Amino acid sequence: MKWGSTSLAFYGLGAAAVATSVATLKKRLELSQAKHRSLAGHSRIARRLAGFLPFYDYDDDRFFASDDAPEEVVTRRRDGFARLSALYKGRFAETIRRTAEASEAISDLQFTDAYRVPFQYRRLVRAHLPSAAFVQSSSGVTITDLDGNCSYDLTGSYGVNVFGYDFYKGAIERGGARVRELGPVLGPYHPVIIENVKLLKELSGLDEVSFHMSGTEAVMQAVRLARYHTKRSHLVRFCGAYHGWWGDVQPGVGNPVPAHETYTLTDMSEDALRVLRTRRNIACVLVNPLQALHPNASAPSDSSLLDSTRSAHFDKVRYAEWLKRLREVCTERDIVLIFDEVFVGFRLAQGGAQDYFGVRADLVTYGKTLGGGLPIGVVCGKNELMKRFREDRPADICFARGTFNSHPYVMAAMNEFLRQLQTSEADALYRDLDRIWDERANSLNRRLAVESLPVEVANMSSIWTVCYTRPSRYNWMLQYYLRAEGLALSWIGTGRLIFSLNYTDADFAAVADRFVAAAKAMQADGWWWSNPAITNKTIKRTVLKEMIMHRLFSPRGRRKH
Ligand SMILES: Cc1ncc(COP(=O)(O)O)c(C=O)c1O
Repeated sequence: MKWGSTSLAFYGLGAAAVATSVATLKKRLELSQAKHRSLAGHSRIARRLAGFLPFYDYDDDRFFASDDAPEEVVTRRRDGFARLSALYKGRFAETIRRTAEASEAISDLQFTDAYRVPFQYRRLVRAHLPSAAFVQSSSGVTITDLDGNCSYDLTGSYGVNVFGYDFYKGAIERGGARVRELGPVLGPYHPVIIENVKLLKELSGLDEVSFHMSGTEAVMQAVRLARYHTKRSHLVRFCGAYHGWWGDVQPGVGNPVPAHETYTLTDMSEDALRVLRTRRNIACVLVNPLQALHPNASAPSDSSLLDSTRSAHFDKVRYAEWLKRLREVCTERDIVLIFDEVFVGFRLAQGGAQDYFGVRADLVTYGKTLGGGLPIGVVCGKNELMKRFREDRPADICFARGTFNSHPYVMAAMNEFLRQLQTSEADALYRDLDRIWDERANSLNRRLAVESLPVEVANMSSIWTVCYTRPSRYNWMLQYYLRAEGLALSWIGTGRLIFSLNYTDADFAAVADRFVAAAKAMQADGWWWSNPAITNKTIKRTVLKEMIMHRLFSPRGRRKH
């Protein structure tokens, strides 16, 4: 009898253990199903592979013929490249000279300079089309370099520039005048902060506000608060989404250590919702609404433009529907839904992405343009999530400080921005915003199609990306033709064009003319020569083969780092 009950207990324990491991296995499987099939969806593998990727580059011949184009085409490319190089070295002489000098001691310049084009082409590009990273002034929708060249600004200052540079100059000046008497006193607040808080509460529809110095810090704080209040460890981000450079939100390449408490899931997917419904350790879900333009893809930099597979398409209704479902699941599971509006914040609508998509978040981060031209990060949230201590547990706190938080000059410039947002002038600017920018994108696409140029743009309001319609290895060259036509791009190149909302139809027409002229010049110089045998797949295969050969047989490729 005794034996019987003991063995029953054993059986019972065994069955429970099997059930637990089946459940764990099921959860593991669900997690792996919810990962995007790309490398960006597999941070750990991506980091490991990055360590294996060998450096190699093309010699002068291969540089112009990496697609095995015929000699006549190669000659046109060579001539075009030499012409462009002479133009750059003449027109941007002083700006290039100063950039080269500064680059020796500014690591950021060295980095951005190295990642403008696929690394195989880097050496010759650097030598002949050097970077020109200085500007002297801005006015209207243009910026002027040290040589006096005036270019239309398509960089948008990483998204900060929504109202036009002249507005921000004014905001900094007027704001500075309002707090001059106090100066840079930190700790106590300048009263200007009171109106900021009131306006931010109204705009976000949330109860409390905290001020930080950058978007990265605002995201760090939002996630920390979510972990503190839910007592859960993991954050969920979606594949490809950028949330600043803090380790937990950047689990893949670029971060030297793995992020163990981050799940990177497929955006707009049922599998991701299943993980949210079944895991108990998820504190928050971070959403960067910019991903609506290219779900699951990383920021489209020209340094990864090896072929023509870059794609983008914005479907507002579908994305809004996805956000609604995400909202429902987060509510059901007590998971904190964080909208990271640092980029898109007041670019899409006066009320930000919450208003634009019609979905409310629990915490919202803002940054960039909200600082009125000065550095900023803001978290807005519900009372119960913003609290950083517990009345009944004095040592249980959620710590967050920052020397420069609530700097009087930043608060005053922010106030200028927030007040501007309330004006009828701003109402007019935001009215029909999408229609205006969609029409502009469509009209440019029609012109590009009429000219049989293998380029088209995709847009999410004033945020654009350039896509390429025919397989090619040289799409990254377009950025240099665009700059030669007086269009200023950021170091990311054609992946991200950001327009300020003060672009008039006439300004845009000038940009469109220059864009078409640049693409035509590139076409004429033979870079888009194509052959039916070349597909995106064959390009990828060629590059992969090159990498493997270098890894195996070149001394540089085998070297351990
Ligand atoms: C969505 C989003 N979150 C966070 C950040 C980080 O902001 P910051 O560069 O101010 O640290 C960025 C920056 O581009 C961003 O786009």
